[in-house]
Amino acid sequence: MASLLTEIDHVAIAVRDLDAAIAWYAEVLGATVVHREVVESDGVDEALLRVAESYVQLLTPTRDDSPVAKYLEQRGEGLHHVAYRVDDCAVALAAVKASGARVIDQTPRPGSRGTIVAFVHPKASFGTLIELVEDPHR
Ligand code: CO
Repeated sequence: MASLLTEIDHVAIAVRDLDAAIAWYAEVLGATVVHREVVESDGVDEALLRVAESYVQLLTPTRDDSPVAKYLEQRGEGLHHVAYRVDDCAVALAAVKASGARVIDQTPRPGSRGTIVAFVHPKASFGTLIELVEDPHR
């Protein structure tokens, strides 16, 4: 089968203090923010740092009932999910579902930056939350 995944879109890291994390990436690694966005539906504030054609996405919760807040509480700071680019999120999600793998999103939904996204359940993917990202602007 041909790969559904065309590139790594971003690696997402959950942090408690977004400003401190942004400052650390800038001072220690020289990585700078290219996009900031609050995604109200997910309860997150995100900063994207460009790394070649991909991003590191620093994430912090905007409210206590955000999934990222629960993640920080249970697992602490660190790797939250890996996001892969796909040509067509609906097609990729349908293929994942057809394989029998458990998904979080039954249908694609809006992500940040005007992307279309869907999440695959970490129980289906050896413990890593996977995001499928279609970027209509690429
Ligand atoms: Co993401």
